[in-house]
Amino acid sequence: MTQTQPQPGPIRSPIGVFDSGIGGLTVLRALLDQLPCENYLYLGDTAKVPYGNKSPSTITRFAHENTLFLLQRGVKAVVVACNTVSATCLDQLTLHFRAPIVGVIEPAVQEALRKTRTGQIGVIGTAGTIATRAYDRAVHRIDPGIRVVSVACPLFVPIVESDFVDHDATALVVREYLEPVKNAGVDTLILACTHYPLIKRQISAFLGPEVTLVDSGPATAAALSAILRRDGALSDGTGPSTLCYCLTDSHPQFRQIGERVLGRQVHDVEVITL
Ligand code: DGL
Repeated sequence: MTQTQPQPGPIRSPIGVFDSGIGGLTVLRALLDQLPCENYLYLGDTAKVPYGNKSPSTITRFAHENTLFLLQRGVKAVVVACNTVSATCLDQLTLHFRAPIVGVIEPAVQEALRKTRTGQIGVIGTAGTIATRAYDRAVHRIDPGIRVVSVACPLFVPIVESDFVDHDATALVVREYLEPVKNAGVDTLILACTHYPLIKRQISAFLGPEVTLVDSGPATAAALSAILRRDGALSDGTGPSTLCYCLTDSHPQFRQIGERVLGRQVHDVEVITL
């Protein structure tokens, strides 16, 4: 790919966060909780969601376009708040672009390994994420003795994107996908899609309190915080943050869902073309 390489912005510049849609807001929430004085630019590629059923080459192209867009808008670091992208092409992004780029897989895996007592970990994600086996590899790099049970749950993303979370049908879909996870007896389940924390309550109701759910948001925010601190790139502003949102297509529920997830009003939503 030949393109002018934008430089990461100075320390008061925003942190860029992207996902295929609204799922990355769960990571943005964790960033706001842990780094409240930073400014943020969120990109939801709502014109192309879902990514989880696309081919690796298409996902990689989308990921390059998203990262380039954020860097051209002057962000100082990029959070890939999408497991499908992190699993498919995070290495390519970090090699290609100069800015710090943080994915969600390593932080979530480390968190799950800290939590498991039995060494049986479940992973649920999009078909794309599960097909890469990126989680299995990341777990086994650290501890080859862990048993990993992976299940693709492709209907969870449209349920969340359509704000269908509290519908009875969601409980049925949760049961259908998670029965094998329950039967496998895992004690820790990685929500390997940033949309899934939005149906955490339904997942937990089915699996029961003995299964610990790992949401990648807080662990990813902690990983970014450590990198910015190491690089002397934490904002010296006193907050509060400014938040801007870019979507590649209008999304009727974006503000409503965003306000629920972020616990604050959502303004400054711009529809852009990549
Ligand atoms: N939320 C994203 C993920 O973490 C993408 C889901 C999708 O677009 O299929 O994988």
